Amino acid sequence: MSTTPVPVSDQPVLKLLNVESAYGPIRAIRGVSLQVRRGEIGTVLGSNGAGKTTILKTISGIIDPRKGSIEFKGEDITAKDPAFIVQQGLSHVPEGREVFPLLSVRDNLLMGAYTRNDADGVARDIEAVFGYFPILKERASQDAGLLSGGQQQMLSISRALMAKPDLILLDEPSLGLSPKLTKEIFEIVVRINRERGTTILLVEQNANMALNASDYGYVLENGRIVMEDTCARLREKEDIKEFYLGMKEEGQRAERRWKKKKNWR
Ligand SMILES: Nc1ncnc2c1ncn2[C@@H]1O[C@H](COP(=O)(O)OP(=O)(O)OP(=O)(O)O)[C@@H](O)[C@H]1O
Ligand SMILES: [Mg+2]
Repeated sequence: MSTTPVPVSDQPVLKLLNVESAYGPIRAIRGVSLQVRRGEIGTVLGSNGAGKTTILKTISGIIDPRKGSIEFKGEDITAKDPAFIVQQGLSHVPEGREVFPLLSVRDNLLMGAYTRNDADGVARDIEAVFGYFPILKERASQDAGLLSGGQQQMLSISRALMAKPDLILLDEPSLGLSPKLTKEIFEIVVRINRERGTTILLVEQNANMALNASDYGYVLENGRIVMEDTCARLREKEDIKEFYLGMKEEGQRAERRWKKKKNWR
């Protein structure tokens, strides 16, 4: 596997235009437009219930949008079947990981490769993901349900990689993990992006990790994008520092103010 970074191109690999999705009367995302360029890590930041998971589910075809369009590699994939979308090269690592608990780690990985018929390539890619996450090699024959939360997150990312995707949707990889493990997982996500050239769209409440790992970011509030910029610039914005990056130090007080805040600069 090459260690030469794959350059980011200007070409958007994923494009959402005015996407609106709802659960019955609840409009969870309201006119979301965003792009992820080929080779980059894009991120959507937002607090609880902002609509992050809904965006990813709408992209991968689990939810049909009420309005708007989604383009992947220049093709319209709006409301297409999830299996079709995976075949186009788009893999989704869902919130809460969702591994198959009664299958072994190795069989979980093989499930990720079910659309492929190149057995040699699949075997090579299993070794490649073991290179990223050596613990999975040690546990290869164990039931996935016996893995720790962090290890299940590693398996879930690895399973997505087994489909050889051009784009991976990553839903809150930090959820429920220690800061140390979160950092480790983010470092490997960045390595996967740099070494394999896999484009990534990451949604997170952990703004600190997401802004450090990503190239371009969007801030989502109540189902709407309220700000977008390069992550380098977002990290410098006062609103972001105050309401996301400062949250940890200020605790409850910052959280309350975050909820009240409406005007983004
Ligand atoms: N299955 C559902 N039925 C009804 N409402 C839902 C459903 N799933 C999500 N919602 C609502 O849609 C809105 C967006 O939810 P979503 O799960 O996309 O947020 P999120 O940003 O992923 O939040 P979190 O950070 O907690 O995962 C919320 O108001 C939520 O309550
Ligand atoms: Mg979510």
